[in-house]
Amino acid sequence: MTSSATTVPAPSTARVAVIGAGNMGGPVVRTFLAAGARGENVHVANSTPGSSERAAGELGVTAAASRSEALAGADLVVLGVKPYQVIDLLGEIADELPVQAVVLSLAAGVTLEAMEGALPAGRPVVRSMPSTPIAVGEGAVGLMRGTSVTDEQYGLVEELFSRAGVAVTITEDQVHAFIGAAGSLVAVVYALLESMTDEAVRQGLKRDLAAQLVQQTVRGAATVLTETGVHAAVAKNAVTSPGGTTAEALAEFERQGVRGSIASAMQAAADRSRAMTGN
Ligand SMILES: NC(=O)c1ccc[n+]([C@@H]2O[C@H](COP(=O)([O-])OP(=O)(O)OC[C@H]3O[C@@H](n4cnc5c(N)ncnc54)[C@H](OP(=O)(O)O)[C@@H]3O)[C@@H](O)[C@H]2O)c1
Repeated sequence: MTSSATTVPAPSTARVAVIGAGNMGGPVVRTFLAAGARGENVHVANSTPGSSERAAGELGVTAAASRSEALAGADLVVLGVKPYQVIDLLGEIADELPVQAVVLSLAAGVTLEAMEGALPAGRPVVRSMPSTPIAVGEGAVGLMRGTSVTDEQYGLVEELFSRAGVAVTITEDQVHAFIGAAGSLVAVVYALLESMTDEAVRQGLKRDLAAQLVQQTVRGAATVLTETGVHAAVAKNAVTSPGGTTAEALAEFERQGVRGSIASAMQAAADRSRAMTGN
């Protein structure tokens, strides 16, 4: 645990620079706003001024005229660019980065050690692995703390993610499993929702009703487990009558190997993450 001599602001007064507000940087901005960050204090710098203005307008924050303008006086600098850009970007901004600014990376596969090595010694870096549903307060984010981050600086990052859904501290070893169980799993769940809706349509329901029923069923099942703490297998058995429709559905589910397919998809995401990091 490290404590800082410098004052770390509250979310409502923190100045945040977002370098790259795209598919993931955008949801991060939305969850920061939900946690109390103010639009006038959040400055977006994308690859062009036009793109910065578009993203800032959609998010209700401020477009920076340049990257330098976004970085000036920043307490937190969010790196929302693609993983292959992160180390070069850190080299480019190192001189303009305020000494006290916490660098927050969203990138898969770029380690804390690599980021710290690209900056002058002692700079605070936090690595995060967010999932896009943080934009609506129902996502997950895994936070990994760099060696020079003070308790106060880390506390600011935790507060800014306090409305994300689930925000937990993880180790860099755990991030691969985290990607399989959260970041990439979101897309697998969307694919499942799509296929469930398509089948409900094939069985005769109108598409909007099919989508509504499938989404409500998935949301409801997850909420029951969250609110009661009941194990998924126990909840499943409770809705399976002898010789009934659900028993038939579950038997086919197992015959088709769906359980194994989902495990393979999660393992593939985790393995890809390990390969991207070089371990
Ligand atoms: N998508 C996910 O579900 C997800 C989940 C977890 C982590 N991540 C991580 O999030 C990061 C971004 O991924 P993404 O899916 O959000 O990509 P994206 O949608 O392509 O967004 C990338 C953003 O970076 C901006 N950018 C590119 N070059 C730049 C530069 N030189 N200076 C300033 N801004 C620049 C782009 O601006 P323009 O629009 O102007 O080109 C865009 O806003 C990646 O590191 C990824 O590993 C993504």
